[in-house]
Parts: sequence; C-alpha cells; structure tokens
Amino acid sequence: MLSWDDYEEQITPEPSAQAGEAIMAEAVKRQLDAQDQQASMPQPVEPPPQQQAAPAEPAATLASAALAPEVMPVQEDSGNTERVTVDQKAMINCRADLNQLVPFKYEWAWQKYLDGCANHWMPQEVNMTADIALWKSDDGLSDDERTIVKRSLGFFSTADSLVANNLVLAIYRLITNPECRQYLLRQAFEEAIHTHAYQYCIESLGMDEGEIFNMYHEVPAVARKASWALKYTKEINEPGFTTGTLETDKTLLKNLIAYYCVLEGVFFYCGFTQILSMGRRNKMTGTSEQFQYILRDESMHVNFGIDVINQIKLENPQLWDDEMQEAARGMILEGTTLEVAYARDTMPRGVLGMNANMMEEYLQFIANRRLAQIGLSEQFPGVKNPFPWMSEIMDLKKEKNFFETRVTDYQTGGALSWD
Ligand SMILES: [Fe+2]
Ligand SMILES: [Fe+2]
Repeated sequence: MLSWDDYEEQITPEPSAQAGEAIMAEAVKRQLDAQDQQASMPQPVEPPPQQQAAPAEPAATLASAALAPEVMPVQEDSGNTERVTVDQKAMINCRADLNQLVPFKYEWAWQKYLDGCANHWMPQEVNMTADIALWKSDDGLSDDERTIVKRSLGFFSTADSLVANNLVLAIYRLITNPECRQYLLRQAFEEAIHTHAYQYCIESLGMDEGEIFNMYHEVPAVARKASWALKYTKEINEPGFTTGTLETDKTLLKNLIAYYCVLEGVFFYCGFTQILSMGRRNKMTGTSEQFQYILRDESMHVNFGIDVINQIKLENPQLWDDEMQEAARGMILEGTTLEVAYARDTMPRGVLGMNANMMEEYLQFIANRRLAQIGLSEQFPGVKNPFPWMSEIMDLKKEKNFFETRVTDYQTGGALSWD
C-alpha cells in the first residue's frame, strides 16, 4: 500500500546547475530526434477546406462562460427544477427530478439497497483448492456430475450478463424513481460479481472457456432459455423506445416479469439446486459456496423485482387487465416448461439424490410461488417442495455450518474467513 512517506520519496530532488545543463542538452537532443522521425513519416493528408473545424474558442473564454448569470440551473429531461415532494414520485413515467434521492417514497427499495450492500462478497474470497483437486482427478466425479458442473457454468456465465445488460441498457432509464435506481445500480454490480464468480470457477478448474461461454449459442437446452429472455429485451432496448402509453407500459411490465419472475425466478433454480446438492455431498464445495452466495443475492433480486411489478400495478391498475394477466401467466408457464426441459437434458438419469421428475415438481412449486407473488392463481395444485433444504440455504445466516468451509461474519466484514 502507498503511504505519504513513499510519496515524498518519489519526488525528484532539485537538480544542481551542472546536472540541469546535462538534462537540458538531453531534452534538446530528444526533441531534434523526434522532429527527424516525424519528417521521415508519411505526412497526413490535409482535409478539404469544408471539413476543417472552426477555430476553437480559447479554453479560458469557455471556462468563464460557465459562470455566466444567464446559464439555467441543472435540468432533468422533464425540465422540472422544483424541489421534489413524495407525491410527485412514481415508478414509471415520472416527471419529477430524478437526481433527488430524498424525500423517500419507496422505503422498501432503499432498504433492499442497504441489505444488498451488507451482503457484499467477492469470488476470490472462496477457497477453490478442493474443487481443483476433485475436478482434475480421474475418478472424483461421475460423468453425469461433470455434465452438471459444465452446464451450470455454461448457462450462468452468460445469463448474468444478459440480466446485467437488460438492467443497465433497457430497464434503468424507464424506472423513474431514484430509490429503485439506487437498487438497480447495486444489482448491476452484483450481476458483475456473479459473472466474475463463474469466470473464476471456469478458470480455476482449467475448463475450456470457449466451450463454456458459448453454450448459450451451442447447447439447445441452454440456448432456448437465453433466447427466450433476449426477446423481451429487444423492444425496450431500442433507443427510441419510451413508456407512456398503455401498450408501451405493458411492454416494460412484460420485460420485468420475464427477467425477475422467469429468468432470475425460475431459470436459475435447476442449476442452483444441482450445484448446491453437490456441495451438500461434499463435492465441489468451493463452487457450491460461490453459488450459495449468488443464490442469496438472486433471491433478493427476485423479491425486489416482485415489489417493483406490484408497485407498478398498484400505481397503474389499467395495465393489469385480462390480456396482461393472461400474458404474465403464459410467460411463467412457458419459462417453467423450458426449465423442466433443461432439467431433463442435464439429468438423463438420477444423480446426486435427485432426478428430472423431482426437479419438475420443484419447478412447478417455484412457478406457483411466482404466480402468487404477482397476484395470479397457482397453476399446479397440490405440488410439494421436494427440496426443502433449498429454502433454508437461501438464508445463509441459518446455515453457517453447512459446508466444510465455514463462513463467519461476512455481513459486516466484507471478507470471508475460515476456521
Ligand atoms: Fe446474478
Ligand atoms: Fe440477479
């Protein structure tokens, strides 16, 4: 780490008069050499007169113009420069100044931002030594277990980039309150950490990076999930897209349902369950620990997204008509079908104490929850959770002794330690 002492030491002492002359002579020589070199290089073609820029105004004139009294105060896009009141704030299509975080209206969003920050972690803090030895040994894992590890890293290594891109390139500008934007910025950083975590696992295990990062193009069960999500980004990602009509507000709402309820809310659950089940059996414990941290973040992302969707519905009840409810139900059911297909593809036989039929029931259980969370009726009556340990694992605080590498005090310390 640098200290002020280092800084002092790096200051060049005053040169003596003699040394100063030598330095000056050296500088003149370098300048002449540079001129020679420039003369020997091809000369740039002069642009035609009409392409020449107008002479620049002196910087000092421009700088002093910034203080001119006629300059208007900073304006948001709306042109509104008044102090913001709580009742002016809105989830979408808000005209108030979005640079004023307070007064708070959406306390739940601010609280989630604080909770997300309290859960900070980094992938390098997880010990991967046991995973590397197991992955590289010939008889450490069965072929089916190896497939699960590769498919999970293949799907997630790009899925979190899809989520991050959707957040910052599509959703962010359309969610018009600063409390939610503050959480979206935190979530975007967490998605970067997740992509980092997958890259860290792939690199640690010495996998073929090209094979893993291209599964979302090349492996049908993975590609179907990625392209399903991408189609909901396409329209709102267009630079000219704005909300403000019934149709465009519904398009945004569909994007939020696609990403929060389906991609993060259903598509993540087969892979998470498989890897965490591996960790419970003392296999790939470092990778499992990475996934455990990610799952904790993801369950908060889903809860935030559900709150956003329900708040938009509350403020804009006209959006939640029969057509929209039918579309939302259809999206969650479609997503569940794709995730069940992924489960069958990655588990052709029973493995790790689970099989594709059990996973199907679990995914139907999750789908019921997602439907209920946004006010729709459950579509799979009577299904039970065959993996109750997954609910417990989502709250890491209850599970400190779960893995070999025991996690302590990360809530406040920002770093993990093992004892
Ligand atoms: Fe993520
Ligand atoms: Fe996420």
